[in-house]
Amino acid sequence: MTVSVGVIGLGRMARALICPLIEREILRSSEVIGVVGSEATATRLKSELPGDLTVVAASDPRAMEAWNAQVQLLAVKPQQLDAVAASVEPSQAGRSGSQLLISVLAGVTLERLQSRFPGRACVRAVPNTPCLVGEGLCGLAWGDGVTPEQRLWVTEAFRPVSEVLELPESRLDAFLALTSSGPAYVALVAEALADGAVAAGLPRDQANHLAHRTLAGSAALLDRQQLHPGQLKDMVASPGGTTMAALRHLEKAGLRSALIEAVIAATEHGRGLR
Ligand SMILES: NC(=O)c1ccc[n+]([C@@H]2O[C@H](COP(=O)([O-])OP(=O)(O)OC[C@H]3O[C@@H](n4cnc5c(N)ncnc54)[C@H](OP(=O)(O)O)[C@@H]3O)[C@@H](O)[C@H]2O)c1
Repeated sequence: MTVSVGVIGLGRMARALICPLIEREILRSSEVIGVVGSEATATRLKSELPGDLTVVAASDPRAMEAWNAQVQLLAVKPQQLDAVAASVEPSQAGRSGSQLLISVLAGVTLERLQSRFPGRACVRAVPNTPCLVGEGLCGLAWGDGVTPEQRLWVTEAFRPVSEVLELPESRLDAFLALTSSGPAYVALVAEALADGAVAAGLPRDQANHLAHRTLAGSAALLDRQQLHPGQLKDMVASPGGTTMAALRHLEKAGLRSALIEAVIAATEHGRGLR
């Protein structure tokens, strides 16, 4: 399926998805038109992105070309949805039943998308920022009328940068709270571990490097040996040893419950966006 793609909101997340597709020649940059909020952003991106990828500001009349594309990737902030939907000219709204709209907007339901963009088949996608390095996760929930060919195209489009999971829409908020917000939780842990090592006497650069490598190596071990997290913990916690001294401290400080509550809070916040 050869497609033209209109990206409405060519920000960080949209670029993390589109740029690898262009690099891998799954999409031709000349077939993509990106829309951003301001002229200043459009000018900056034109110098950073492949030469024949068109980037225009929302106020530019060519922005409407994005709404004519066969596939539209909607990646503005959730709060901008209504204003963006209102800017679509009636002639572009639901122009053809074969158009597909993929939304990455956190918390915005398929029902709301379908009401704002009638005539388009809609997909909710929840990607995460590790897509930038090809190690992402992407949850997909299909709206009404998405054809098998479109499903295949969307799945193949996300696969180069992420593991793709098809989910019932009711699970997407929890999926986002774990996977899309997850890099922030991991970043806090990495920073705090490095701070601890600096406090204990390691130089800052070395502490940062060691914290990152410890997290990455532990994740690889969990993944490749299919370990339960409890098994990985027990592998390094010998009786009466230093790791147990640290774990007792983490339990007293409530690390586990803080993380559980963080994921629940993010899920509830996502649900509250609608
Ligand atoms: N970041 C994540 O981890 C993540 C994960 C899952 C889902 N998401 C979702 O992805 C979406 C985008 O997030 P992001 O982090 O990529 O934000 P971002 O970098 O701020 O991107 C938003 C983009 O929208 C553009 N924009 C603003 N007004 C517009 C308009 N009227 N028409 C077209 N484009 C317009 C902005 O341009 P200007 O800069 O010129 O204003 C910017 O390029 C959000 O809905 C978020 O919920 C993000």
